[in-house]
Amino acid sequence: MSHAEDHEGTRRDFLYYATAGAGAVATGAAVWPLVNQMNPSADVRALASIRVDVSGVQPGTQLTVKWLGKPVFIRHRTGAEIAEAAEQDAAFLAGEAVIDPLARNANLPDAAADASDANRTMPSPEGEAPQAWIVQMGVCTHLGCVPLGDAGEYKGWFCPCHGSHYDLAGRIRKGPAPENLPVPPAIWADSSTIKLG
Ligand code: FES
Repeated sequence: MSHAEDHEGTRRDFLYYATAGAGAVATGAAVWPLVNQMNPSADVRALASIRVDVSGVQPGTQLTVKWLGKPVFIRHRTGAEIAEAAEQDAAFLAGEAVIDPLARNANLPDAAADASDANRTMPSPEGEAPQAWIVQMGVCTHLGCVPLGDAGEYKGWFCPCHGSHYDLAGRIRKGPAPENLPVPPAIWADSSTIKLG
């Protein structure tokens, strides 16, 4: 398969995710078509901050929204995924397959914070298990393809362009990508709405 075909495949996957998630996006769905007709600077101004209704994002599913022209993955973990992420976390913190030790989380004041699962996940809304939500840029840190969710050797994300495997916390564990998927500025605006930016 040529590189161009690879890229096409990734793009289709991205659009698929976007369509699948459309019902659960309030602001994102309304803004998306408009953005395509705007020039880039207006695009950036319009989407510097967006609010995403995640009330329909059931545990075990992932929503992809577009923010600042790039995909953002919002994943709601099941209890089993939280447990598996904890196992992966213990192995990572013990030094197994560490490529990037840093959290890369824009919400943390310390740029040198380690990439523990706790440092890469959002605080959970009241009543929900810790580390149930993870939000990260859907852009492979190798050459910018959009990784596939629920895929790869670590069951997190897999970038088919050149074979990068990210774990359940979005940490790069195998392949050419040099850094973990970045975590963008994200807070809970209310118990079912995430504000990006
Ligand atoms: S762009 Fe993802 S592995 Fe190369």
